[in-house]
Amino acid sequence: MAAIVPGRVPPGTDLFAEIDRLRRQKRAVILAHYYQEPDVQDVADFVGDSLGLSQAAAGTDAEVIVFAGVHFMAETAKLLCPDKTVLLPDLEAGCSLADGCPADAFAAFLARYPGHKVVSYINCSAATKALSDVICTSSNALRIVASFPPQQPLVFAPDRFLGDWVARKLGRELVLWEGSCEVHETFSERRLVELKTTFPDAVVAAHPECPPAVLQHADYVGSTTGILEFARVTPARRVIVATEPGILHRMRRENPGKELIPVPGADDSCSCNECPYMKKNTLEKLYLCLRDGAPEVTLDAAVAERARAPIARMLELSR
Ligand code: 13P
Ligand code: SF4
Repeated sequence: MAAIVPGRVPPGTDLFAEIDRLRRQKRAVILAHYYQEPDVQDVADFVGDSLGLSQAAAGTDAEVIVFAGVHFMAETAKLLCPDKTVLLPDLEAGCSLADGCPADAFAAFLARYPGHKVVSYINCSAATKALSDVICTSSNALRIVASFPPQQPLVFAPDRFLGDWVARKLGRELVLWEGSCEVHETFSERRLVELKTTFPDAVVAAHPECPPAVLQHADYVGSTTGILEFARVTPARRVIVATEPGILHRMRRENPGKELIPVPGADDSCSCNECPYMKKNTLEKLYLCLRDGAPEVTLDAAVAERARAPIARMLELSR
């Protein structure tokens, strides 16, 4: 048998079979987001959106959670399951929204808005969550914001496009932190309109992290799970999809008779509609992290203590 070299996959390894063996041996569950590469989605025990993944983490009886997603998602799983080992195949799998809202700057921002309650999108660090009253995801943002009385002033962070969409849908003023997703903000209205002109019978499904100029053309706006559901139930035979193209893996499987058309980024020469952070995880890294029990996601105890309540509140309001 070949010697095990840390960080190295032995030549000839059947990754699917080995991941399956290790998952049983270590009593691990593999959770994956829809933006993960197809092989990673296929090997996962559960694939979902941010809310579904949080709920799956909260409900698992596995001893180890391997989170095939980005850092804030794995951190949320650790907050919900402090006694479990949470592994992230690549610790560099970050998120521009989370990175763009550091807790110290956010605390200074909040000091300018006394009397405001704070709703934070789950795409932020545990330290930023700790400064919030409640967390939301794209699938429950409307419900979470609407749970506050109309006269209650609110700060919404860190995604200004999601916040703007929620504010317009609910006819409610929100103080917005000026963050954005570097992937969804590149979706171009011009390219979307060109696609709509080419395929006049197509419907458009978009993620609320897209800019308002894109969202105004959408027949449906919602989370990745919501977009998948919309693609399944729409009678239209063509669906234009304005979110990260990793979602097409499942969407194609669920809709063999439909034409699914991803909106490209603004620049023809790039693949900037793909999330570079999500794609840091690979099947090889998933295998290695299961085998080696690393890299592990850990949390400062004091931060975790404060960040747990706003997440628990979100889960409570999402039942
Ligand atoms: P949802 O899967 O919750 O729609 O979120 C998308 C996202 O931002 C993942 O990065
Ligand atoms: Fe963050 Fe955007 Fe990537 Fe989602 S798609 S992880 S919001 S950078």
